[in-house]
Amino acid sequence: MFSHERVVVRRGPESGLPIIVAIHSTARGQAIGGCRMATYPDWRDGLADALRLSAAMTTKCALAGLPNGGGKTVIALPPAPAAVDPVGPDGSVGADGSVGSVGPVGVPGSVGPELRRAALHDVGVVIAELGGAYATGPDVGTGPDDMVTIGERTEHVFCRPVERGGSGDSSPATAIGTIAALRAICTELFGSPDLSGHSFAVLGLGRVGGHVARLLAAAGARLVVSDIDPARRSVATDLDAAWTSPGECLRADVDVLVPAAMGGLLTPASVPTLHCRAIAGPANNQLDAPPTATLLHDRGILWAPDQVVSAGGIIHATGVELRHESEAEALARVESIGDTLATLLRTATAEGRPPAEIAARLP
Ligand code: PHE
Repeated sequence: MFSHERVVVRRGPESGLPIIVAIHSTARGQAIGGCRMATYPDWRDGLADALRLSAAMTTKCALAGLPNGGGKTVIALPPAPAAVDPVGPDGSVGADGSVGSVGPVGVPGSVGPELRRAALHDVGVVIAELGGAYATGPDVGTGPDDMVTIGERTEHVFCRPVERGGSGDSSPATAIGTIAALRAICTELFGSPDLSGHSFAVLGLGRVGGHVARLLAAAGARLVVSDIDPARRSVATDLDAAWTSPGECLRADVDVLVPAAMGGLLTPASVPTLHCRAIAGPANNQLDAPPTATLLHDRGILWAPDQVVSAGGIIHATGVELRHESEAEALARVESIGDTLATLLRTATAEGRPPAEIAARLP
């Protein structure tokens, strides 16, 4: 079923790149969702990603109780031949760290500064034309400085640096929300929100995953970490964490797997290979398709829907920039992700159903 309100696909006049802005819904209010800059084998794969991600943002906003709908922007970079690795049928890991067949295959952000600026301006022009129906923010491959560039063409942009009038990088808040979710998971598994002594496998050490790993280490958790970028191995050394390949990290024998890279890693092929007791992480769209939630449930693996876990960034950004909340108020709302998830998990346990099914019934 086609459920999107509006989709703009355009060859960016400044950059020549495919610029895709998908508005899934404005029923609850302005559509929001980040701007992803990544390499796709074909621009149509970028379109498919934008459609999926924007629909997930509608659910994310609703579950977080925000008066917003879902949207997403994708700047689809063409594949650089060397950046494209085949993804194995066994769920082995693609060049971007994605495991499975969903999502882009290239290294995000592999573009020179001039083309980058041009593409961000193209995005700003499309958003300006949408007249406030949609506002963007950072996502995979973009950050606060890129929001300044988009902001040269439209006011509808979140997360500019604080000194430029925005709420700044959203990734610390997303990480804090993830930790609140992980405490709810530990309460469900062990009867206490204490993270110390439990084991976690953090898959992806980017802006959000890196923060999550640091917060887990500070809380006394035992860590396995991984990233497709070998340079991030230094994070493992700093945190006294075990370093593995992305595939091994996915299959690690730990209490909780924390997906913090690209989506699509939970598939009918990968689920039978997992050794964790629960999965909760900030990566968007972790399931290849909704029925995979049932496969996880049948294996006795507790999966926290990513639309709940990953909402810290939008809760913080809209709190500070739209509702003029103080930093402390916004962070308190981010922490409430723990209560939202706990309620969801209690209902799921009481009914013996996958948490995803309960989440799908909520507003
Ligand atoms: N990348 C963020 C997400 O997936 C998007 C975002 C963050 C949008 C902050 C607006 C403000 O939730």
